[in-house]
Amino acid sequence: MSTEMQEMHIDIGLVNTIVARSSLSFIDGEKGILEYVGYDIDDLARQSTFEETTYLLWYCHLPSRSELADFTAKIRSNYDLSEAMWDMIVSLPRDASPMHALRTLTSALSLEDPAADDPSEEANARKSLFMLAKMPALIAGFDRHRKGLDLVRPDLDAPLAESFLYMLTGEKPTERMARAMDICLILHADHGFNASTFASLVTISTLSDMYSAVTTAIGTLKGPLHGGANQGVMLMLDEISTIDEVEPYVLQKFANKERIMGFGHRVYKAYDPRATYLKTFAEGIAQDTGNNELFAKSQRIEEVMDREVGAKGIYPNVDFYSATTYFSLGIDLDLFTPLFAMSRVSGWTAHCLEYLRENRLIRPRCDYVGPHEQTYVSISQR
Ligand code: ACO
Repeated sequence: MSTEMQEMHIDIGLVNTIVARSSLSFIDGEKGILEYVGYDIDDLARQSTFEETTYLLWYCHLPSRSELADFTAKIRSNYDLSEAMWDMIVSLPRDASPMHALRTLTSALSLEDPAADDPSEEANARKSLFMLAKMPALIAGFDRHRKGLDLVRPDLDAPLAESFLYMLTGEKPTERMARAMDICLILHADHGFNASTFASLVTISTLSDMYSAVTTAIGTLKGPLHGGANQGVMLMLDEISTIDEVEPYVLQKFANKERIMGFGHRVYKAYDPRATYLKTFAEGIAQDTGNNELFAKSQRIEEVMDREVGAKGIYPNVDFYSATTYFSLGIDLDLFTPLFAMSRVSGWTAHCLEYLRENRLIRPRCDYVGPHEQTYVSISQR
């Protein structure tokens, strides 16, 4: 090992490594605090909108009324897709997974952007807005295509969450449903250097482009240890038929050394503040939609987990109660992770824009533990 390497330390999983500075989200994992640019997540969930929260993450201040009106108008004017993109949606295999479809379609957006490789901050901000505005149509469009339904164009007069539900169902959602969707988008918008955000930064740090960075992030979010966990939570709730089955189910998982999806977090060793909010919210939505049993099962899982591993700091994370919320909203379980992407695109792009201002190539080292000085034997003699 070279002297330079000897001075470095190994940190598998980057558990104890701070990679860069950021002014976007603050997390205190021990106290269970999350702030976006200094604003508490609870205040934002109660009072803000996804559009305003995105503005906050991109420009690091709350917009004035005219700034918000202007920003919202720009997003809405970018909701619709080109005919080529709608055609591409209906050309995809119907049995493809929505996350694979979303990754492919987001990447394809770059093909019709002549400035896809323009590295200026202005162009990158425009591309960020372009992707954020169009992702709802990509997700809803693919879902309708796979179900053999006619595609529904966006509602250009509605907020992003409402327009998404309209495209998905073909019906104007109730105010409560639209607000529920909007709150979920706010809660998932950003979260420090989580795996998908970090992946997007690795890509952008090579001075690649915003479409590539977001495509990378979608692929990373998909994993069950990250954004894919919300789908895993719903699968688990489906497997448990009654409340009485919860305890033996959880204990059996522990006996098999399996994880309970929607619990635990790399940073939070206290209750995830997003889960605190979502829990109350999920209860209300579940009551409104006749899904009380589902909420009760979730709550029982939490009780058993608290008894078994609460002392280790393993609590519900954002994915746990978002599963109940999305299910109660009538959303198919394999759309849960695409919805996460539809929100987190605001955080991914915010971090890329921020990182590019003081860009440095992200290129860690590995500790080589393989052999040295091997003698090459030609193939004929092996
Ligand atoms: N169920 C059971 N045990 C768990 C869980 C869980 N969900 N999560 C952590 N543990 C246990 C581990 O078995 C380990 O126990 P041990 O010390 O006795 O071996 C200990 O807690 C620490 O776990 P690590 O995997 O080392 O913690 P890490 O920080 O690497 O992992 C992670 C965090 C991946 C989120 C983990 O908690 C997990 O797998 N959770 C389930 C998947 C999930 O919900 N992911 C979503 C995360 S939030 C998000 O990405 C939006």
